[in-house]
Amino acid sequence: MGTHSNKRFSTINLYVNRGSRSVVNNLSFQIEIGTLVGVLGANGAGKSTLLSVLAGECSVNSGSVCINGVSLSTLTALEQAQLRAVLPQHSSLSFNLSVIEIVTMGAYSYPEAQPQLLNRWVVESLHDTDLSHLTDVNYTELSGGQQQRVHLARVLVQSRAIAHFHGHAWILLDEPTSSLDPRHQQLLFQKIHALTRAENFGVMVVMHDLNLAALWCDRLMLMKEGALIFDDCPANTLTSNNLLECFDNPMHVFPHPIYSDKVCVVAHK
Ligand SMILES: Nc1ncnc2c1ncn2[C@@H]1O[C@H](COP(=O)(O)OP(=O)(O)OP(=O)(O)O)[C@@H](O)[C@H]1O
Ligand SMILES: [Mg+2]
Repeated sequence: MGTHSNKRFSTINLYVNRGSRSVVNNLSFQIEIGTLVGVLGANGAGKSTLLSVLAGECSVNSGSVCINGVSLSTLTALEQAQLRAVLPQHSSLSFNLSVIEIVTMGAYSYPEAQPQLLNRWVVESLHDTDLSHLTDVNYTELSGGQQQRVHLARVLVQSRAIAHFHGHAWILLDEPTSSLDPRHQQLLFQKIHALTRAENFGVMVVMHDLNLAALWCDRLMLMKEGALIFDDCPANTLTSNNLLECFDNPMHVFPHPIYSDKVCVVAHK
């Protein structure tokens, strides 16, 4: 286990091209354990590309990515899977597997995990994602939102395994609530927020819902055309001017009616 000062996920001067186009442009940042960092930006801004790079699934043109002080390029796929869990934007799966079988697969990178421990992680993660009543249902028979929750539960099992063996875990989530109803969106962010503190998670979450971001994230990164244009706490990032620059769409920002330290964002008709 690294020292506390090594618990960082960071990039320095990161550039990524896809085809002949520059998709990630000179990105430098670091994430700390115990924080929930949101990534916002228009379609095509490069958010998923950035997450794929951090997940070791997309190669870099120049710059570096370091996880706990170690260059990502020196780690095998298994070593990366023992440090971070990833929820891609699209998880397709056509296998004939039950919910509990897929969720249990989350611990694949730690085959040495004791069965009782693995069972506890699975039960907790199914509960966190409100799937306890669907454990034996076939994945292909679930609704789109239920399927998304299965993948989230699988990522939570992996995250719990990593945190158990490593003391902390990095989590990369690409639009985890895009198919969820309002109650499950709220439930998911409540859980992630609580686990980030309780289980020593460091989370980067790509999202489009500005009000969920305002309510739950400790910090927000705004991307535009591959560049990081703002990186600060939600109250500082979510201003009308910044949102106009980022999304090219006029929006109003108000103090939150219930939480004085939060803001909420309202669009025009
Ligand atoms: N496999 C690929 N090959 C070529 N270009 C790609 C590929 N994947 C993405 N791109 C391009 O890279 C740019 C960034 O895409 P990316 O998926 O990172 O955007 P995003 O910010 O996640 O958008 P969204 O909000 O729509 O998910 C886009 O212009 C896209 O066309
Ligand atoms: Mg994307």
